[in-house]
Amino acid sequence: MSASRPAAVIVLAAGEGTRMRSRTPKVLHEICGRSLVAHVLAAAAELAPQRTVVVVGHERERVSAHVDEVAPGVTTAVQDKQNGTGHAVRMALDSLAGDDTTPADALSGTVVLCYGDTPLLRGRTLGDLVAAHEAGGNAATVLSAHLDDPTGYGRIIRDSSGACAGIVEEADATADQRAITEINSGMYAFDGAALAAVVQRLSTDNAKGEEYITDTVALLRGDGLRVGVSVAEDAGEIEGVNDRVQLAAARASLNRRLLETHMRAGVTVVDPASTLVDVDVTIGQDAVIEPQTQLLGGTVVGDEAHVGPGARLTDTAVGAGATVSHTVAEGAEIGERAVVGPYSYLRPGARLGGRAKVGTFVEVKNSNVGEGTKIPHLTYVGDADIGKEANIGASSVFVNYDGVHKNRTVVGDHARTGSDTMFIAPVNVGDGAYTGAGTVVREDVPPGALAVSEGHRQRNIDGWVRSRRPGTAAADAAERATSAED
Ligand code: UD1
Ligand code: CA
Repeated sequence: MSASRPAAVIVLAAGEGTRMRSRTPKVLHEICGRSLVAHVLAAAAELAPQRTVVVVGHERERVSAHVDEVAPGVTTAVQDKQNGTGHAVRMALDSLAGDDTTPADALSGTVVLCYGDTPLLRGRTLGDLVAAHEAGGNAATVLSAHLDDPTGYGRIIRDSSGACAGIVEEADATADQRAITEINSGMYAFDGAALAAVVQRLSTDNAKGEEYITDTVALLRGDGLRVGVSVAEDAGEIEGVNDRVQLAAARASLNRRLLETHMRAGVTVVDPASTLVDVDVTIGQDAVIEPQTQLLGGTVVGDEAHVGPGARLTDTAVGAGATVSHTVAEGAEIGERAVVGPYSYLRPGARLGGRAKVGTFVEVKNSNVGEGTKIPHLTYVGDADIGKEANIGASSVFVNYDGVHKNRTVVGDHARTGSDTMFIAPVNVGDGAYTGAGTVVREDVPPGALAVSEGHRQRNIDGWVRSRRPGTAAADAAERATSAED
């Protein structure tokens, strides 16, 4: 079915979300790398509406700032006091009419309503709803779903002919009505003019003492207008989030949906249950994602790459054929066929060339590591430019911080630096140069030279522990050992 561009989409996000028991407004809680309201706005954007307005109230500065950030061009309307979903819609319509010189026009056509706490909904479901609404010539069309456990949702009341007679909220429902398993998803298409008129007539005569938008259905029916119900094909899409148990359930559903999309596109996900993926992640064909892996933010995984087990990659690019295991990386670039881990930490600006190797207990930050270069063990690389095919010995430190400034170290192509080399930046080590084990590199090393540190001859001060640390366990142990020798 094809639908027209709606005149407006209204998203309700003014509530506090009391049941979340949180200092953060409910709609700002995140699943799969996006806030709840941003998920809803992303689905709404697929309808290409003329205008989108988010109703904000509780912590409105915070929610508005977030909306500006994730959805530029979307406006906000303020609902000072949370007097219910019907009241919130009224505030939205006032603001839509108010920013138009001809208020009637602002609302002519279809107005879509959805709630900021139903993050699983898809754009095409809203599109189908609009199409069904327009095809039926309805004043209102409600998206419903059949749930095994309808607890907490408004129930769809159908008359003897099967037509929708109204919606009853759980708190206001009789025992018989609570047994109804067809629920209100909270997504609706309205004729804008009919909606604008009917929201003026909502009462607060109900369990919560609020204006319910759900009451518009029975009112419009009473006026002899057509009200339709469209049953969602996928009931999972309409799950609302009211508490943290539902937040976790929604995350699991969305994560599962995203992973299924990747798997169908040719990605092996060994254990979907322990793999988390954000919405904006892309994964290439024949990549393998091992258990206990999180791919977050704008992470991109190349074809045939092998990620995990135990990796958490945020905004990181993994080249084709690379292997990344037991690694935490953020803002890093990993070249094609590079090998990272186990137990590596790549921080922002770590850029590894093709076939590079970063091994166990190695941390890399703001550094370029050339093609084929190996940093296999126990090393910190900060603010360095290392050439290609170099080898950095175990337990080395790029000493980048002099207490005031961060300085860079340059190591040339094919350099071989010994274990426990300290590179005191700023310093350059030339192409093909070597350093001995334990070297403290304070001065530039010319290409092809071997650097060794002078003045490092070991000196033993006999009896130092006995005189300076008397009575300690170390002094006692030393005493026992020396008297045994006598
Ligand atoms: C609502 C519906 C219910 C439906 C369910 C679907 C009503 C009266 N009930 O119940 O039929 O089955 O959603 O998930 O509409 N909000 C405001 N201002 C307010 C009150 C709420 O903006 O004054 C916003 C909230 O921020 C939230 C949304 O509206 O995003 C829904 O409110 P909520 O309190 O969660 O409604 P439910 O009890 O879930
Ligand atoms: Ca809700």
